[in-house]
Amino acid sequence: MKRDIENHVTGISKFVDDFPTLDGTLEAYLFYSEKAHAEILNIDYASALKSEGVADILTANDIPGENQIGGIIKDEMLFAEHEVEFIGEPIALVIADTKENAKKASNKIVVEYKDLPVVTDPREAYEKGLLIRPPQIFSGGDVDSAWSGCDVVVEGKVDSGGQEHLYLETQASYAVPTDSGLKIYSSTQSPTVVQRTISNVLNIPMHRIEVDVLRLGGGFGGKEDQATIWAVLSALAAYKLNRPVKLVLSRMDDLKITGKRHPYSSDYKIGLSKDGKILAYEVTFYQNAGAFADLSTAILERTLFHAANCYAIPNVKATGISCKTNLPPNTAFRGFGGPQGMFVIEAALHKAADVMGIDVDILQQKNLIADNDVYFYGQKVENAQAVNSWQTADEKFNLDKLKKEVRNFNEQNERFKKGFAVMPISFGISFTNSFLNQASALVHVYTDGSVGVSTAAVEMGQGVNEKIIEVCSRTFSISKNRIKIETTNTTRIANTSPTAASTGADLNGNAAKIACDNILERLKIIAAQELNAKDSEKLSIENEQVYLEGQETDLGWDELIQAAYLSRTNLSSHAYYATPDIYFDRDKNIGSPFAYHVYGTSFITVTVDCLLGIYKFDSVKIVHDFGKSLHRLIDLGQAEGALAQGIGWMTMEELVQSANGELKSNTLSTYKIPDIYSVPDEVIIEFLENSENRFGPFNSKAIGEPPFMYGIGVYFAILNAMKSFDPNLELFYNAPITPEKVLLALYPEVKV
Ligand code: MTE
Ligand code: HPA
Ligand code: MOS
Repeated sequence: MKRDIENHVTGISKFVDDFPTLDGTLEAYLFYSEKAHAEILNIDYASALKSEGVADILTANDIPGENQIGGIIKDEMLFAEHEVEFIGEPIALVIADTKENAKKASNKIVVEYKDLPVVTDPREAYEKGLLIRPPQIFSGGDVDSAWSGCDVVVEGKVDSGGQEHLYLETQASYAVPTDSGLKIYSSTQSPTVVQRTISNVLNIPMHRIEVDVLRLGGGFGGKEDQATIWAVLSALAAYKLNRPVKLVLSRMDDLKITGKRHPYSSDYKIGLSKDGKILAYEVTFYQNAGAFADLSTAILERTLFHAANCYAIPNVKATGISCKTNLPPNTAFRGFGGPQGMFVIEAALHKAADVMGIDVDILQQKNLIADNDVYFYGQKVENAQAVNSWQTADEKFNLDKLKKEVRNFNEQNERFKKGFAVMPISFGISFTNSFLNQASALVHVYTDGSVGVSTAAVEMGQGVNEKIIEVCSRTFSISKNRIKIETTNTTRIANTSPTAASTGADLNGNAAKIACDNILERLKIIAAQELNAKDSEKLSIENEQVYLEGQETDLGWDELIQAAYLSRTNLSSHAYYATPDIYFDRDKNIGSPFAYHVYGTSFITVTVDCLLGIYKFDSVKIVHDFGKSLHRLIDLGQAEGALAQGIGWMTMEELVQSANGELKSNTLSTYKIPDIYSVPDEVIIEFLENSENRFGPFNSKAIGEPPFMYGIGVYFAILNAMKSFDPNLELFYNAPITPEKVLLALYPEVKV
């Protein structure tokens, strides 16, 4: 880990644009639609083709296979032909000797458009029947007959905005022709999706395409599906021209034309008993999918799975509607639709508590899900840590004391008000498409005792490589310095699932562990021979030394490997892992899709300057369920990073589009992301103890996405502070709650 960090900050680590290029390498620039919705009447390439340095301009006519890159639904063409549906939709690829010349030439392409109506709002799209696919309903119990038994029923509307991934490395690919096909260096979370899509577009078999991933300068979901197109474009050019071709997006283009987190607009209705039990919850999600499906349907499903967060609710009906708009296709982003679902139930509880005149944490705590409860879509709860993490947080941080401090502060201050909120989370781990929950690993022990490990996991800063080193080092009981993680490569590891859904370390760590165990078993037989021991069962390796019946022997790792090699023992293993016991019936929408859930509770305090509308985050105190952490430093870093990203989504990151579909917040001066000055003054993250998990290597739990959702609590903390400034404040649930929105809500009489 230390090595990685030093290389990253000193600039030694290489990313796609840093790779040394081969002689004859060309650069590509995408010519894309400047219209959000229009018919293409005519395109004139003549002067662009004559432009300096241009090698070729490729369009739909140059595609040997399918003009199609849609993953789940085949609705996305590689190049538009007659109609464009978002700003940024590919029309042609310009290839030239330099990036500058390619861009210059692309400016000379002239398109004649006929404007068509532009839709950017998901509810408007729904009204017009513009859907990605028919609505989907998940339900448990019977909401319709439950309302009459409720003492309190509250309804309302909730909105949440999109979010720019802002990975440090923009989308990038380098395609090189080889003897038998192509080798693609891609900044992708999904090497096999890249390989398969290139195969379809070029009409050549997958085995002729090798995709190699060294590392990503961040992905955050933005390279699960949307790295593919750049790889396909560079591959098409390399194949057609038989020259290496590089395609790296400028930051401006990346911001402008790639998809983001889905904005949602939702309606809810919640019913409770007078003692605060949630009896019924009905919710409809209008998802702003953008122009094509991308991963929207899978993301919407995860929204439905997380519609009730960590609460046991007997009657739930959740409807998901994926709405087609004229924006770049929105895509995976940390949480994968879960945060959008969880924000709505938290808003519903917040509003219900306001109506009932009680603190919302009373309602939250009273309804926490526990063992033998059932998630409303049918999954039985096992090893629930919702109550445990809440109680542990209360013991460590004292909920009543924190609330009292806020009340006291607010009694003594007029301009500045503090707000407090609790955010408990439950996040399901596994790809919700069950078939994706598989991985394999290839482990080689070399004759000098060093070890090379290949898996399907893509390193994007989340530390999965270091975790797999940890797994192999513990399994063999050898120094981590002996272990190297190789690039993620489709020729070495086939049929890779994306590194996503927070499952990277679980799936690939388990596969790597099985591979190491296979080799270890063979080594023990050799060790038994070397030591004249009868039973290899009584042997173990501890700290690179062989032990017999608990006694250290003279046989060390190096000598053991030598002996194994000389006696012709296989020192390599390819192993496979598939998550057991998961299923989901897509006809009934009932099942047990997750291997397990991750839980945790956060206590959040903020201060709002009620004169200026600005705020600061005083403290976030978390008890989080890491299982038995594989690597505490990495896990802490993931929790802190996810929290900051969640806070950004809820507060300051605001995407603004004009009515004609143009992104107005297309620079970092108009789109504010959390920086070191806007993270909480105090962040305390405690490890929940005694959490078991048979699905994670060495009992660990996934960490990548779940802590993102702690950020949701910040919204309510700010709203609570505002409410103590103005007890008549009309509560609103429309994230992000920017300082501008805070100010306007506090002074409704002021018109702007
Ligand atoms: N952390 C860093 N530094 N960079 C990233 O791109 N992606 C997040 C999370 N943490 C990301 C990250 C997302 S969206 C996911 S799904 C997981 O890491 C994926 O990696 P894992 O499955 O190994 O946890
Ligand atoms: N999470 C992330 N990516 C995915 C999923 C999921 O549940 N399903 C398909 N791709
Ligand atoms: Mo993460 S959104 O599953 O890549």
